[in-house]
Parts: sequence; C-alpha cells; structure tokens
Amino acid sequence: MVILGIETSCDETAAAVVVDGKRILSNVFASQAKEHERFGGVVPELASRAHAEQMLLIIDEALVKAGVTLDEIDQIAVANGPGLIGSLMVGVNAAKTLAWSRNLPLVSVNHLHAHLYASLMQEEQEVTFPAIGVILSGGHTAILKMHSLTDYELLSTTVDDAIGEAFDKAAKVIGLPYPGGPEIEKLAKEGGGARFGLRPGRVKRSPHYFSFSGLKTGFLYAAKGAGAKKESPLLLKQNELADLAYEFQEVAFGDVVKKTLKIAREVGCSTLLFGGGVTMNQRLRELFHEQATGMQLLFPGKGLSLDNAAMIAGLGYHLGKNERAFDLHLEPSPSVSLLGGVD
Ligand code: KG4
Ligand code: ZN
Repeated sequence: MVILGIETSCDETAAAVVVDGKRILSNVFASQAKEHERFGGVVPELASRAHAEQMLLIIDEALVKAGVTLDEIDQIAVANGPGLIGSLMVGVNAAKTLAWSRNLPLVSVNHLHAHLYASLMQEEQEVTFPAIGVILSGGHTAILKMHSLTDYELLSTTVDDAIGEAFDKAAKVIGLPYPGGPEIEKLAKEGGGARFGLRPGRVKRSPHYFSFSGLKTGFLYAAKGAGAKKESPLLLKQNELADLAYEFQEVAFGDVVKKTLKIAREVGCSTLLFGGGVTMNQRLRELFHEQATGMQLLFPGKGLSLDNAAMIAGLGYHLGKNERAFDLHLEPSPSVSLLGGVD
C-alpha cells in the first residue's frame, strides 16, 4: 500500500511517500524557520501563508523523489491536529482535494500519535506492548502507557509550558534564534557545573506531572538578575551563559528521565518509545541510555524526530486499513488531544 502523507500542523510544510507503513520512499519538507526566526517563535498568519505557497511544490517533490506518480498512490494520510488552525487547513484541504479528484481513501492522523509511531518506523522486530510512549515536542510533553499501537492512556503531561517551548523561550532570553532547542544544546556543550541553583518543577498533587515555567523563570533570573524582565540586559559573559545552558538542560532532562523511569517501573513496562523534536537532543538520549538499564529504548531515526510527513503516512497505513472512502467532511482539529478529546 503506497501512501502519500501530508503534514502542516505548525511551521514545516511536509509530504512523504511511504509503503506499507515503514518503507520510506521520500520524506521532504520546506522549513519556515527563517521566516519566524526574527520573531522568536512561530507567527501563525505567516505560517499559513507559507504553507499555501509551498504545499503543491512539496507534494510534487515527494512524488518525484519517491519515483511514483499520483496514479500509483493508494491512499492519502493527513495530520488534522493538534496544531495551528490556519496551518492545518492548508494540509487538510490539499489532502481532501487530492482524495476527491483521484477517488482515493483519505485517513486523518493525530500528529502526536504519529510522533510516537516515528520511533517504530525503522525497527525490524515487532515491539512488545504494553510500552511507555514519551512525547517531547515544542507544543507537548506527555508520557503514555501504550497498550497497543492504537490504544493508549495518558499518565503524565505538563501543567504549563511544553519542554520544547521552555527551551525556545530560554534561548530567546539570551538572544539565541528560534528554534532554541538545538541552540541551547550547542551552547551547553561548552558549559558545565550547577552553580545557578536551577530546580525541576514539582507538581504537588500529581508528582508524575511536569512544570517547566519555574525553571524558565530561574533561567531568566540567572541570566538577567533576580526579578528581571525578559527585555532586561544580560548580566552573564559567554562562558557563563554556556554554564547556564548546560545547567538548564541537565535539570530539564534530569526531571524527564527520572519521572519517565519511575512511571515505567511502576507500570512494569521496559520498552520506551520516544517522539517529538526534543528527542533530537543527544544529551537527552545519552542520559536515558545511561540510566534506563535493562530497558529497550526506541528513538526516531534520521528525519523522523522533528515534524515530518513520513510518520503521518506510516501511521496512516495502520489506521486506514479499513478506509474505503474519502471523507469530505474532514475538518482540522487544532485542539484535539492525544486521546481524541479536546485539550
Ligand atoms: O516535534 P516538533 O518538530 O514540533 C512540534 O510538534 O512542536 O518539535 C519542535 C521543538 C522545538 O521546541 C525545538 O526547539 C525542539 O523541538 N528541538 C530541540 C532540539 N531540536 C529541536 N530541543 C532540544 N534539543 C534539540 N536538539
Ligand atoms: Zn510535532
């Protein structure tokens, strides 16, 4: 089954062709990072316009790179949420139009669910469920118990900022460009120590849950002085900023590793699946490899951590096996949660 995947939930216009849920023939995207960089974050209106400009070019490129024509596509899969409404509308409408004009089945895919599926795309062996799913992205932080590929329950999430968002905001405070995660990782490589006293967030009534807003404020005060505002001047020199980035990363990831492993042990799962842009971070992977002894760790392969359409086409294969028709009533669901309800 040859599936064309389409993904436009945030700031990547992406398309991919995947065979039988795993064999990736193409996985291409147009990044809008440059357009949003000077604003320090994604500007929704700019994102929708850029998607509209790029969508057809990217679909074309995905087909050409895969060496297939539209006649050889058996099904279309599209990310219909969660994400930015204007961005999602472009991808969903492109998918509906193609499905209608070629009389192809259309399957809608939850973007977050697809992030987890990404870690399974390059696995030869079947993964045994139940497993723990860990989503660390710009918009979400979630730990799930996955009973199967399609049946899961939420065990932990954040009560405020998502982890990637905290990295992006911290980077902005010290003048680094968007997206901030890779910038903080790079700077942290030159730093060390723990002299700023940063602490992980604690959620009293739900100790498994995350909170990153206190850590983010701790970072701001360490960089610009107690009680400082975001626009206040920096007090630290370059080498001190590297130490601060290091400490921020260690504290944020230390918290993620600790809570994830505690949950995994409590529910008796020894397979961990990871997804989302933050799982690109090599220090995060290293910490899990050091501390998750005896557990099977599955991280997304190359090109599958950040937002991409291969994961949409891949999961679409499993979700759409019984799909026979295109649903022209499909609408974007910007606030859909992982569990199908609304966040
Ligand atoms: O999954 P993703 O592409 O988009 C969402 O669905 O949100 O994740 C993007 C997030 C951004 O916050 C970005 O700063 C973060 O992933 N990110 C990283 C790294 N690479 C991307 N965070 C930490 N370290 C990285 N190397
Ligand atoms: Zn994402």
